[in-house]
Amino acid sequence: MFDKLRSLFGGSKEEHVPSVIHDYSLMAVDIHSHLIPGIDDGSKTMEDSVFLIKSLYDLGFKKLITSPHVMADGYVNSTETILSGRDKVREAIKQNGIDIQFDATGEYNIDEGMYAKIEKNDLIPIGKNYIMVEMPFLAKPAIMGDIMYKLQTAGYNVILAHPERYGYFYENDFSSYNSLKDRNILFQVNIASLSGTYGKGARYSAEKMINENMVDFIGTDLHGTKHLEFLKECVGLKYLEKIITYDKLLNKTLL
Ligand SMILES: [Fe+2]
Repeated sequence: MFDKLRSLFGGSKEEHVPSVIHDYSLMAVDIHSHLIPGIDDGSKTMEDSVFLIKSLYDLGFKKLITSPHVMADGYVNSTETILSGRDKVREAIKQNGIDIQFDATGEYNIDEGMYAKIEKNDLIPIGKNYIMVEMPFLAKPAIMGDIMYKLQTAGYNVILAHPERYGYFYENDFSSYNSLKDRNILFQVNIASLSGTYGKGARYSAEKMINENMVDFIGTDLHGTKHLEFLKECVGLKYLEKIITYDKLLNKTLL
């Protein structure tokens, strides 16, 4: 199947090439990570968070907008849990003398809980009223279109987190992605998809989206130290250079 994907999507066999990119300073702002300790499957302790944030600073990031999972079941976070967690992390950053901006939003799961959140404006937008959503990996939720539409009519600009990772989108053709773009959905591709961390399908989809200028944001989706290694591996990848130097990439507009 992946050879078919490669021929369909035109993924490149060429991996590392001489690059002018040595870190993530051109990207500057990350909008996707799990750095508030103990509230989702990301960082477990404040010590972990400080280590991860210092490491991201060393990789060139100037601002982190962390995005804990917000789900109706599982990681049941709220505006309060996220903002109070953000404030504690900010305090730890200050105490440790790390020169980085730190803010928070949510990675909102498209589930039934979203209806009440939209109704009550119980969401944490960033930048130009951006709200980032994610979906289950096994099956597309029937309410996907409805939730996206309701968010948009409430005045939000919807970012879909890691669209390249949804097999139900990439396994057939690219039309699902095109129709999301036709509906003004913004795409945030995970950096580690470019090295194949999430599989070949995700990699080829990400590469094709970059080739077709469909990517609006990139993100680390950092959960822990393993993701730091993925980020280091990706420096020097042709497609990372291509997207990080893309003039319409929106990350740095949030600085
Ligand atoms: Fe995430």
